[in-house]
Amino acid sequence: TQALTSQSVSYASPSNIALIKYWGKHGVQIPKNPSISFTLDTCKTTTKLSYVKREKVTDEYELKVILDGKHKPGFEPKIHQFFGRIQSYLPFVKDYVFTIETSNSFPHSSGIASSASGLSALALCLVEMEREMQPEMTLKHFNQKASFIARLGSGSGCRSLEGPLVVWGEHAEIKGSSDLYGVQYPYEIHPVFDNYQDAILLVDKGEKPVSSTVGHNLMHNHAYAASRFEQAVVNLSNLIPILKTGDLDGFVRLVESEALTLHAMMLTSNPYFILMKPNTLHIIDKIWEYRRETGIPVCFTLDAGANVHVLFSDIDKEQIHEFIKNDLSKYCQDNRYIFDSVGSGAIKL
Ligand code: PMV
Repeated sequence: TQALTSQSVSYASPSNIALIKYWGKHGVQIPKNPSISFTLDTCKTTTKLSYVKREKVTDEYELKVILDGKHKPGFEPKIHQFFGRIQSYLPFVKDYVFTIETSNSFPHSSGIASSASGLSALALCLVEMEREMQPEMTLKHFNQKASFIARLGSGSGCRSLEGPLVVWGEHAEIKGSSDLYGVQYPYEIHPVFDNYQDAILLVDKGEKPVSSTVGHNLMHNHAYAASRFEQAVVNLSNLIPILKTGDLDGFVRLVESEALTLHAMMLTSNPYFILMKPNTLHIIDKIWEYRRETGIPVCFTLDAGANVHVLFSDIDKEQIHEFIKNDLSKYCQDNRYIFDSVGSGAIKL
């Protein structure tokens, strides 16, 4: 009998924060509008995928999820569903028994979604397995395929593989852009955005009242959906010269408007819902007051939750860190926040 050897592959993949938001999808995780995000650096998931050839292949996948060294059967149905979606693109997933050992750099129950980093790390491991079987695969093909597979697990996760900026969704002015995978932003970025900072203020770690899956679905039959999708296209066009010239005032206006529009879509869904908390608004107020008083172009953005991402340039880092420690941290749950910055994407370990 043939001895079965267990092999493994590992990746660390970061989270990302959208500047132009993806909200609304159709088909199998196809976005209704293009989006663009900063890839983060510190907030990431590390995943080791071990695999052993199965003796008998059945229609059921065989997998085990281990989070921080503990078996978590509760996460397995989601991965079974993901494997079902990717089966036709990576047919070998039914030929192995998988052990997925994963850990996040950010605290659990922090309200930071681990799905983008987690699913992109797993997608990279799986496509790496395919690359081992097809060594002629080009890097471009590898990146596209891994992002494509990540998208099927977590839409925004397809923007986590590269950095510093990734576009997902077809846009006439972004060469190579696609609804099927994320691509690295292909144009000039002014040095003022080098090592751009993102401080994540953890306002609420509670369970969200409405999941992003439900939120995306509420964009079907939404009164303002069509104009929102058009606006995102225009905003992405407008962001190109902002990034090129380092127009931070334009950046602040566009990014904050996108965040508030995302939440405006929630407020005007049917049924309507609110993911911001009172402290989300307190923080926004304080940021505006600080910006008025200091003239420093610091701004906020939000994802589908109550936490606030504070964005600022590297040269203002010391002052803004003081501002956060002294003034904003009191609006955070347990005074918690994470200082992160723009990163360059996933790495093979
Ligand atoms: O990838 P999902 O389904 O969790 O949706 C993410 C949606 C936002 O974070 C709100 C916006 C975005 O573009 O990341």
